[in-house]
Amino acid sequence: MSRQPESFLGTPATAPGPLGPQMLTSMGAIRKDPLAYLDRVWREHGDIAQFPIPRPPSYLVNSPAGVRHVLVDNARNYGKSTIQYRALSLVTGEGLLTSDGDTWRTQRRVMQPAFHHSALEAVGDHVARAASRVAGQWRAYPQGTVIDVDAFMMGAALEVVAAALMSTDLTGQSGEIAAATLDALDVVVARARVPITPPAWLPTPANRVLKRSVARLDAAVTTMVEARRDEPGEDLLGLLLSMQDESGRSLSVEQIRDQLVTFIVAGHETVASALGWAWGLLAEHPELGDKVAAEADRVAPGRPIGFGDYSELTYSKWVVEETLRLYPPAWLITRSTKQADVIDGVDVPAGSLIIMSPWLLHRHPELWSNAESFDPDRFSGDIPRFAHIPFGAGPRLCIGRDFSYVEATMLIAELGRQFRVRFPDGERLPDGDPLVTIRPRGGMPVLVSPR
Ligand code: HEM
Repeated sequence: MSRQPESFLGTPATAPGPLGPQMLTSMGAIRKDPLAYLDRVWREHGDIAQFPIPRPPSYLVNSPAGVRHVLVDNARNYGKSTIQYRALSLVTGEGLLTSDGDTWRTQRRVMQPAFHHSALEAVGDHVARAASRVAGQWRAYPQGTVIDVDAFMMGAALEVVAAALMSTDLTGQSGEIAAATLDALDVVVARARVPITPPAWLPTPANRVLKRSVARLDAAVTTMVEARRDEPGEDLLGLLLSMQDESGRSLSVEQIRDQLVTFIVAGHETVASALGWAWGLLAEHPELGDKVAAEADRVAPGRPIGFGDYSELTYSKWVVEETLRLYPPAWLITRSTKQADVIDGVDVPAGSLIIMSPWLLHRHPELWSNAESFDPDRFSGDIPRFAHIPFGAGPRLCIGRDFSYVEATMLIAELGRQFRVRFPDGERLPDGDPLVTIRPRGGMPVLVSPR
């Protein structure tokens, strides 16, 4: 354990951590490989470490008890006013992911029905269609073609989220909304990667892209909203169109835009990344792919997998859970403390930045045996509480958690039973690039062959 520095420019240090000069010399390493840096800080300083940053005082919390305290037990003391969420809100505005307090509570209550169990059946139908489309495309390749399965998963996940939440196919406005959202996200990631960013109003090339993307979003959402006003329907967009605030006013186009963009940001690349990694891990472990295929054949012999089969796809779901353990798309969860608090015995001042990393926690050797190895069967046993948090925890738990499990499990099962995946000779699982989600560097090129 390292020694505890006394203060960082007047802010008392309350937990061990790297010293200022050490952190300065690590800036290159942090930018190049933030996951490795977090891992190093944890190894050198333990489950709660403090970074030598005076404003805001910043802590890494990497214990189930600490995570539970922040996200569940004392959740009301922790808000989303952090660098991470401020950067995201340049794109998502005040949507469900970044809003706080009463605004968030009202939004969550209104939108929850779009994610009830009854709505998942429709999600299953969209997933079955997406799986069948992808299968058709994979079959059309000549034997031995190397395919970037990650790119296919990006397409499938976008199709599913747009169809499920906006009841539109991608030939309509939702295609434009998604494209503009992704362009805007690129700018946000670029901003988060450099320590000093020009203010959003400066006409730098990146800010111009951001502005243009937001203008395209506005236009596309306005068209879609106008088309749906008279027949709201029961999907997420329908709920938003019918929603009224405390004074009985409907939501403005901007408010609806913020929510739709939020759901595309939160529900597209996250699922797609998880699926891309799942194929990579199965390509490394073909015998586990065979188990997926055998289960799917047993559960849905001779017919496509439907939502009704989901609860029987136990092994495929373990594959998804284990993938989310090793490659949690949301690799950072941040909060800011409203009032001074004590986390796991450590005094934390008001206004602190709390950094939790599912990626780090999911590889904690005291919580997971052979933490680095891919072993879906570990989910057949008991998992320590708050050790597996790919969807967060507590009141701000991902609203799309069940949606994601249905989608990822059905896609893995249906495509896994139709196709075998393996890496071309000499290739292996790519490194992870922690952007908004952990992306496979260079995509996930694998050989896909029909079973
Ligand atoms: C594998 C896929 C996914 C992962 C790993 C994931 C992860 C997460 C995490 C960790 C949070 C909590 C963040 C925090 O506490 O700071 C979250 C929140 C959220 N997610 Fe997901 N998510 C996934 C899929 C989805 C999908 C499919 C949707 C929508 C269709 C979605 C919509 C949201 C929204 C709206 C929130 C904010 C909820 C709130 O604060 O009330 N997510 N997600």
